[in-house]
Order: sequence, then C-alpha cells, then structure tokens
Amino acid sequence: MHKNIPQLLTLLNDENFHSGSDLGEKLNLTRSAVWKLIKQLEKLGIEVEVKTKLGYKITHNLEFLDARKIGQYFTVPHKQYLDKIIIFDELPSTNSYLIELAKNDPNYKECICLAESQTAGRGRLGRQWFSPYAKNILLSLLWRFSKEPNELGGLSLAVAIAVIESLERYGIKQDIKLKWPNDVLWQQHKLAGILVEISGENRHAYNTVIGIGLNLNMPKTHSQNIGQPFCDVAEISNATPERNKLTGLLIDQLLTTMEVFQKGSLQPFIEKWRELDVSYGQQVTIITPQEKISGIGRGIDGKGHFLLEDKLGKLHTFVAGEVSLEKNDMIMDF
Ligand code: BTN
Repeated sequence: MHKNIPQLLTLLNDENFHSGSDLGEKLNLTRSAVWKLIKQLEKLGIEVEVKTKLGYKITHNLEFLDARKIGQYFTVPHKQYLDKIIIFDELPSTNSYLIELAKNDPNYKECICLAESQTAGRGRLGRQWFSPYAKNILLSLLWRFSKEPNELGGLSLAVAIAVIESLERYGIKQDIKLKWPNDVLWQQHKLAGILVEISGENRHAYNTVIGIGLNLNMPKTHSQNIGQPFCDVAEISNATPERNKLTGLLIDQLLTTMEVFQKGSLQPFIEKWRELDVSYGQQVTIITPQEKISGIGRGIDGKGHFLLEDKLGKLHTFVAGEVSLEKNDMIMDF
C-alpha cells in the first residue's frame, strides 16, 4: 500500500467532496499522482465517487480502528490489556505477525494485533482470507497456555462461541449459528472465521495465536475474492456497524473465554456449543480424506471432535472433515 494512502483516507473521510488540486496540495503531490492513489483505493475495496468540478468523495465513511475507543468496551478486569493492543494499517497477516513475535521472544505474554488490511490474510485449510481496507475486523490474540497441545484442540470452538457472545452483547438478536469446527454463520452464510495456531513451547507453556476475521461491511461486489456464501454485520443488523465498539466487545469476550478455557478446557462450553450448533439433530454429511458419511449431527465430545450418528444408531467421532447440512435432499455446502 502506498505510504500516502492512510493520510488520503483521513482527508477524504468527512462526507465531503475534495478536489484533486486540494488533495494534492495537502499531500504534496501532483493531481495525476492523487488520481493514481484514488485508483489504488478502489483496489483496496474502497468505493470512491468522482464528480467533475467537485472531485472525490468516499461513498461510505470509514471508522478507523482506535485503541482508546476499543478499550472503552473492556470490562474492568481487562483494562490492563489496553496497552497490549497494536494496530497496523497494513501487514501480511496478524496471525503471522504474532507467531513471529512469540518466536523472537518466547517469554512474550499476551498481545492483541489488529490491522486495517492484510496482504496475505490466511484462512483454514490453506485458504486466503480477503478483507477490504478498514471495513471488517482482522484480529489476532497471542496467549500462553500451560496445557498440552492436544488439550488445545477444542480452543477454536470456544472462540467461535465468544464471537457469537460478543455479537449478542453488541445487540444482535438474530439467530447466528456455528458450523463445526468453527465457522460462524447467519442463514448459512459465513459471518466470521477462526484460525488457531500453536507456535512453540517454552517452559511447558504454549504460544497460541487465535486469529478471527469478522465481516462487518463486506460488499457483495467482493464475491469473486471470497468463493463461498458470506454475509456481514451491516446486513444482519440493517445498520452501519460500530467498528471500534464491536472490536472492543470481541476482545473483551475473547479474554474471558481464554480465562475460562485455561481453567476448564472445553468442558464449560459444550452445552452452549450444542445450543448454537447448526447441525445438531440435523441430517448432515461429513467428508474426510478417507470417507464420506451421512447421519445425524450429535454435537461435540469433550475434545471438540464432531459426533455423528449413522442410520444404524452407531456414533462416529471425527477429528477433521467438512460438514454439510442436508435439507430437502439437497446438500448445502457453506
Ligand atoms: C477461516 O478460514 O475460516 C479462518 C479465517 C481466519 C482469518 C483471520 S483474519 C485475522 C487473522 N490473520 C490471518 O491471517 N488470519 C486470521
């Protein structure tokens, strides 16, 4: 991203038109250099209105991330984490950043990394995670768990519950659901994704990076970058999402989840998972590299493994796989 883009966006972010020469003067650039920057904004996913005589205007105003505003939504015990927030305009991936940080200083404790955009955002199963500039939440938390990695297997499921709880605290009443292992869905469209990575052991504590991508404003024009049905908070709530508020509530809820998980692992979350599980009691199919099997979803076990009851009533346990819901004889892939 060009170094002048954050400043250009700050200038444009006031609901007014700005002429090319005015912007050029403030940025110390020629009008044609300003025009080139405007073209780059479109590549970042920011819609710009252009009018002869008037100049340029951002179609939808942006709410930039602000640590002070985010911290207002932390409950008192979590205020201490305020100075652990790092915000980037752009970086390859917030997860990769924290993995590197923990590698370089294995004693590093908690850190929260946020970005307005990522150039190499990573999803599960080697997929990419796309997000336009300053529109959604791209968050990673570094946490040290004194637990064995096999006990951390269910962590991403607990995190998925935290995402829904933070949306509830924000005021979203709609039926947001979970699809194993950790997709957050609304009406079968993906709202958020979670990528947990364990990055090395130091004195029996494991550096764990929890990455969350939560869609707040994801225009449908980005469908070609995403490759699966998706939705955003703007669509669900029918209002402009308050980005700093949602980020603050999400971090606060995530910190609570970390504390509960440290003490009780996945056990305290299993009942809540069952309530939110889109496939619980439903006809589903799970595909693994070895097999494809259909049956009734029966929730998760204490390790977060998926349970499926086949037509003979036998219970199968899955450590990995892609679950799809069957409705009216159609398989719905999310
Ligand atoms: C998924 O595929 O469902 C998981 C997506 C996780 C994306 C988030 S965005 C913040 C963090 N940084 C990354 O590179 N990935 C995660």
